[in-house]
Amino acid sequence: MTKHRIAAACGGIALLAAGGAQAEPRSYDIPEPTAQLRPAKGHEAGFEAAQTNCMVCHSVDYILTQPPGKGAAFWTGEVTKMVSVFHAPIEEADAKAIAAYLAAAY
Ligand code: HEC
Repeated sequence: MTKHRIAAACGGIALLAAGGAQAEPRSYDIPEPTAQLRPAKGHEAGFEAAQTNCMVCHSVDYILTQPPGKGAAFWTGEVTKMVSVFHAPIEEADAKAIAAYLAAAY
């Protein structure tokens, strides 16, 4: 008698677990980012590299909200910080091109 009750209880738990596993996966649409980097003449490579590397972790707003005209030293520092502090996997040559591009475009 006791044995039967335990088996029934176990069956109930197994059913509950199976029901949970069959739940529909949720899906949602992420809105298209509207802000974009702007190109800069003579810095096509840096522009490309920035598009590939600088929106992986955050939106382009982080770049766009910096005060304009900060210059090469500032942008080199920013790119270096992304690589050394936040471990952005950016090649040395790309990092230089990106910093030069950002200094020219912003
Ligand atoms: C590995 C992830 C990662 C990548 C890739 C990355 N960033 Fe960031 N970035 C961060 C994080 C994290 C912060 C936020 C720091 C904070 O909140 O203090 C940040 C913040 C910033 C800021 C805001 C100012 C600051 O220093 O906090 C700027 C500008 C910026 N990133 C530029 C860039 C550029 C340019 C690139 C491409 C070269 C880039 N990021 C790529 C992680 C990344």
